[in-house]
Amino acid sequence: MISPEIIEEIKYRCDIADVISSYVPLKRAGSNYNGHCPFHSERTPSFTVFPATRSFYCFGCGAGGDVITFIMKRENLDYRSALEMLAARAGIELPQDEKREDTVGVKRERILSMNRDAAKFFHSCLYDPKLGASGLEYLTKRGLTGAVIKHFGLGFAPDGFGNVTDYLTKMGYTPEEMSTGFLCGISKKSGRPYDYFRNRVIFPIIDVTGNVVAFGGRVMDDSVPKYLNTSDTPAFKKSRNLFALNYAKSKCADRLILCEGYMDVIALHANGFENAVATLGTAITPEQARIMAKYTKQVIISYDSDDAGQRAANKAMKLLSEVGLDVRVLKVTGAKDPDEFFRKNGSTAYEKFKLLLDGSRAQFEFKLDGVLSRYDISVVDHRIKAAAELCRIISEVHSAAERDVYIGVVSKKLEIPADSLKNDVKRAMKERDRVQKKEEIKAVINKTAGYGDRVNPDTVKNTGAVNTEENILGILLLYPENLAAVKKEKIKLSGGDFFSDFNRKVFEESLARCDDTGKFDFSLLNEVFDTDAMGRIMSMVVRRSKLRENGTELLRDMISKLREETKYRKNAGDDMAQIADILALQRNKLKKPSAADKKDS
Ligand code: UTP
Ligand code: MN
Repeated sequence: MISPEIIEEIKYRCDIADVISSYVPLKRAGSNYNGHCPFHSERTPSFTVFPATRSFYCFGCGAGGDVITFIMKRENLDYRSALEMLAARAGIELPQDEKREDTVGVKRERILSMNRDAAKFFHSCLYDPKLGASGLEYLTKRGLTGAVIKHFGLGFAPDGFGNVTDYLTKMGYTPEEMSTGFLCGISKKSGRPYDYFRNRVIFPIIDVTGNVVAFGGRVMDDSVPKYLNTSDTPAFKKSRNLFALNYAKSKCADRLILCEGYMDVIALHANGFENAVATLGTAITPEQARIMAKYTKQVIISYDSDDAGQRAANKAMKLLSEVGLDVRVLKVTGAKDPDEFFRKNGSTAYEKFKLLLDGSRAQFEFKLDGVLSRYDISVVDHRIKAAAELCRIISEVHSAAERDVYIGVVSKKLEIPADSLKNDVKRAMKERDRVQKKEEIKAVINKTAGYGDRVNPDTVKNTGAVNTEENILGILLLYPENLAAVKKEKIKLSGGDFFSDFNRKVFEESLARCDDTGKFDFSLLNEVFDTDAMGRIMSMVVRRSKLRENGTELLRDMISKLREETKYRKNAGDDMAQIADILALQRNKLKKPSAADKKDS
């Protein structure tokens, strides 16, 4: 845990308006600042920064919190990493975190600092004519510019056994540290360290907080292994890292491109697709899939176009769908991998790749193949079923021209007249519109009733009580002297008074972080709540701060109101849930025949 004093210091030096305005342009509005929310797309600015309370809140999407929450959300970092980033910005050294240290001998921090020094060394070798000319020549031949080499911090490990080890020894690193960090082996004969990476171009692997965690080294001819990669160290788990995620993480809210190799990712980034990452010399792991799901909604797999690559793509597809990602496979045409695709297509490559990415053509053909493989189209019955499925797929395409093209393709493949397919597509579209409208209406109804409230799922059971709880918490957090009064039992309120688990947790965690004098730092909540929850807490504070009356009397009134609201509803809440279950069951029973009815009509 990091002490409140250090957090205060970080917040003092990292002015919230300064930090946020390096991400979004802010305009002064009275004592606050306004801007376009970086967390949802909007035309009129509803994102507000409150310098006085050192907090922000978006009235559009409900994102909110302090400067730490902002960095957690914007940079996709956990609490500790967000603090590290802000501390670095402020020039503050954070105390070592026990959890992050390795229990055996060599410390993670030590390896990270050694890696950073090694990366600098490798990079400088590339520009040393005596040591690195062949490396620079190799990278240049593969089409990398100086800017790209610098951006990725590429380097060169010169031939010989004592280059990086001698350098690191001079920098004060021990053989134990170097071998634990996978930069050297220890000779059995002499007991001395020797370089692992020799005569290879070096790709540093950088984690999302900017640490150099590992290296990949490629030979420049056909010798094997083609790539030598750092294996797991106290600072690195291969199965939990992705190459270039440090850059991609802030460019991939919509989609991520997953490649097989370092060179593919570099080619993509260099050509404007900065949302590309690669696994590190292994097939994708479940952990990597989960990490991707944290950063994005959709993954486009762009593996090698050969059979092995496509087989691997199918496997990756399975893993990625399991974590709830929308997954697509993109096969580059006329090249074996994305890297070659960009080199072959020169100045037209960007547009061409964009077409492959956006154009649903590849997607449609992929789906078409999938459907056709499941049916024997020489059988009439199968042909009809296949046509129905394909019409439904085509109905999801937005562009009319594109739909016509696909209808043409299907018409030819299945030998069914285009006109009748067209009618089926139209019908499928109408049906989808109907379902969508119904869902939209349902969503609005549900939202007002508190259904689907992920942050506080109890809302639906007793909206009145939850609303009162939020008012109470708003006042307590806005004026923490009230929290101190609760602590001293001058105001009677306990966790047991709360109806919803979430609000109870907010209450208890806040109380635990408040001292007897009423000193309380909202920021400390970042440690226990995720950014969505922080937004909700912020909304309670913001709501109350807009009202004039927030006195102790009102607070007491609210607390009695809450007791009233929960007295009758606490048990009723359970009953209600039961009734809801029974109703849902009956609705499902009713649904089945009605679905059949629809088909007949
Ligand atoms: P490939 O062998 O498919 O790459 O390896 P490639 O396209 O032919 O060669 P380059 O990279 O363009 O020069 C793809 C990825 O598989 C891992 C590396 O991460 C590489 O980027 N790999 C490959 C290894 O880890 N070790 C190997 O020996 C080979
Ligand atoms: Mn390649």
